[in-house]
Amino acid sequence: MSVRAPAPKTVDLGDPGTFADHDLDEFWRTLRDTAPVHWNPPADGRPGFWVVSRYDDIMAAYRDDEHFTSERGNVLVTLLGGGDAGAGRMLAVTDGHRHHELRKILQRVLSPRVLSDVAAAVRANTRQLIREAVDSGGCDFAEQIAGRIPMTTISNLLGVPERDRDYLLEQTKAALSADTEDVDEVDSEMARNEILLYFMDMVEERRETPGDDVISMLIASSIDGVPLSDEDIVLNCYSLIIGGDETSRLTMIDGVHTLAARPDQWRRLKHGEVAIDTAVDEVLRWASPTMHFGRTVVRETELHGVPLRPGEIVTLWHASGNRDERVFDRPGEYDLGRTPNKHLAFGYGPHFCLGSYLAKVEIAELLMALRDFTTGFEQTGEALRIRSNFLTGFSTLPVRFWPDDSGMKEVDR
Ligand code: HEM
Repeated sequence: MSVRAPAPKTVDLGDPGTFADHDLDEFWRTLRDTAPVHWNPPADGRPGFWVVSRYDDIMAAYRDDEHFTSERGNVLVTLLGGGDAGAGRMLAVTDGHRHHELRKILQRVLSPRVLSDVAAAVRANTRQLIREAVDSGGCDFAEQIAGRIPMTTISNLLGVPERDRDYLLEQTKAALSADTEDVDEVDSEMARNEILLYFMDMVEERRETPGDDVISMLIASSIDGVPLSDEDIVLNCYSLIIGGDETSRLTMIDGVHTLAARPDQWRRLKHGEVAIDTAVDEVLRWASPTMHFGRTVVRETELHGVPLRPGEIVTLWHASGNRDERVFDRPGEYDLGRTPNKHLAFGYGPHFCLGSYLAKVEIAELLMALRDFTTGFEQTGEALRIRSNFLTGFSTLPVRFWPDDSGMKEVDR
């Protein structure tokens, strides 16, 4: 990646190429210091939008469902494209009473108590994958390990049969981010449709033969006495698979990429000098896999003297808020023992990530398996960066593992 530090006026945050081609640390610092509410002008036929970069302002906007709505989209691609087809039906882009009721339904399947079996399966799956990779010396961590943990977990929850998982993984990768420049917005749109059609078939199947899975539970659920429609169910399955796979996968890849380059932090983890849960939060803060979420102004308000008018798009940048020196001590330092660490990776307020517990379990199990089965690891080839204005991270990460013989011999706990 190039290390050019571009001037704020020349950076277009709507363009996925911006993130692939630039190191934006300096840009974000300049915005936080001099333009905390910055206008990203219209470009290439896309409308302009506000860019909020300070931690406290991001938190305040997330909390404020009086002036801001999620119902016209919550990421740039839908906000700039004129709205989200799932508005008012898919949890993340629904507000008010319906959001509250739908969230209660989905919370039932994503709460720590209900997820204990799922957490045990994550542990077994992760340890097996790491053991195999250590045995074989190395692998593409992105493809062979990170690609198989969140997808397996969320597929187990949704009852997606094993034979369909690779297909769904390919579609989710294409739906949100592009690994190469050949994948454009049309391909992404097609991938999103493929996922919706896939779940349409599954809902039909489950109506005939209910099982012990989230889809069957959603079929049996209603809001204000009205059962969820097939469309509602399909849209929320889509949101779980998209929300549950790519974000966790990119975080794991970033965790290994970053640790491979920082042997001092790896040693702290390996020797038990930092608590796993504390380390997980720093992995999340550092990766900030969702660079932004966004809202549309519904009632005029003001931020740092800048009027925000109804209909305008406001984007909230975790990529910046999680490095805000007003909140984090030495924000540019990777410190697995960092406390406090109230990062914004899962958002905040009424839409706070519903899968945060599951994501943390996945990352914790990865760190524990690495600690137990390896003495260390190194990156052995180039890590390929994804192209997206929403997600950040790598699609490939070749690594070599050095086995910890005593850990590998242990009977798995
Ligand atoms: C919402 C991030 C993993 C399901 C969110 C939001 C963020 C986020 C920032 C708030 C969006 C907004 O305010 O508009 C992440 C990150 C993850 C992760 C960084 C992994 C590292 C997961 C997983 C699942 C999931 C594993 C499901 C199994 C959801 C859902 C919402 C959500 C359903 C919508 C909640 C609502 O609108 O009430 N996520 N997420 N996420 N996430 Fe996650």
